[in-house]
Amino acid sequence: MTANDIVDLRSDTVTRPSPDMRRAIAEAEVGDDVLGDDPTVKRLQERLAELLGKEASLFFPSGTQANQTAVLLHTRPGSEAICEANAHVLHYEFAGAAAWSGVQLRPVPTADGVLTAELARPFVRPENPHLMSTTLICAENTHNMAGGKLMPLETLKGLRDLADEHGLPLHLDGARLWNAAAAAGETPAELAAPADTVMVSFSKGLGAPIGSALAGTTEAMGRAHRWRKRLGGGMRQVGILAAAALFALEHNLDRIADDHARARRLAEHVDGLDGFRVVPPDTNIIMIDVERDDVSPDDIVGFLAERGVWLLPTGPRRLRAVAHLDVDDAGIERACAAFAELADR
Ligand SMILES: Cc1ncc(COP(=O)(O)O)c(C=O)c1O
Repeated sequence: MTANDIVDLRSDTVTRPSPDMRRAIAEAEVGDDVLGDDPTVKRLQERLAELLGKEASLFFPSGTQANQTAVLLHTRPGSEAICEANAHVLHYEFAGAAAWSGVQLRPVPTADGVLTAELARPFVRPENPHLMSTTLICAENTHNMAGGKLMPLETLKGLRDLADEHGLPLHLDGARLWNAAAAAGETPAELAAPADTVMVSFSKGLGAPIGSALAGTTEAMGRAHRWRKRLGGGMRQVGILAAAALFALEHNLDRIADDHARARRLAEHVDGLDGFRVVPPDTNIIMIDVERDDVSPDDIVGFLAERGVWLLPTGPRRLRAVAHLDVDDAGIERACAAFAELADR
């Protein structure tokens, strides 16, 4: 089986740049971005700031580095930042908040991954000489480990109000803000508006090979620039990657709802099979719970892989499948057929 025969549903990060995107990369005008000379990076940063309704934005090699820069920007060592209990910033960034910022992350348990003001409020530390201070609220939209869960605009506005009540900044991990916007019927700027800073990724639903960005005020992005340098994120002729991100914004943003429709098709099919339960996906991520005792998620992953369908186990009884740019209707039907064959065994 070649790579082209595989229906790779492990993540929306597995997309490979299309021939047209590669052409945009090859033709990109570049300069030394550390010296502020790369015209394509400047174009991307301006375009993105406009798209997100922020004063400025800064290109980063990864979402992790951009999120960690946001934590550095907003907090001080020995303080606490609030996030949802399964947030990416808490579980998948190698304790970066503790390592770089000296900040403790305080997880807020939720039933469905949606961090509401009501749930977060009791976790904001009161002014008290015996308690550390809360310095930041972090939201994630869509929420990866909650199955691409959408955080509605009203909920984000509620968090903004809570942040304002306590004089706190709000950072939004919007690695999949594009998916959130498509699902909510809002623009990316509307969803970004309640947050002081927002991180977005080009290398997930949009199909670029590398790249994320942080957006906020010009003043905050000036400080973020210095933190990025300290974290080793200064890049030189990086217009080749900014060109891929610009291409992605221009060509791959408007089609993202197709991924949501495909995720729903697979979710409904698998949910109808014996031994599986699927929470209806809001966006492109499907969490599949295995209710059979005779097979483990690893066994299922192996069975499906033999049929050219790749998924990831994400828990002792859970699998994750993600729809994206490189999986078409035929790929989804192959995945449906492989699950059906498994259910018949
Ligand atoms: C919600 C969320 N935030 C941040 C990141 C980090 O992005 P990167 O892999 O580019 O560091 C990811 C990656 O999957 C993510 O899903």
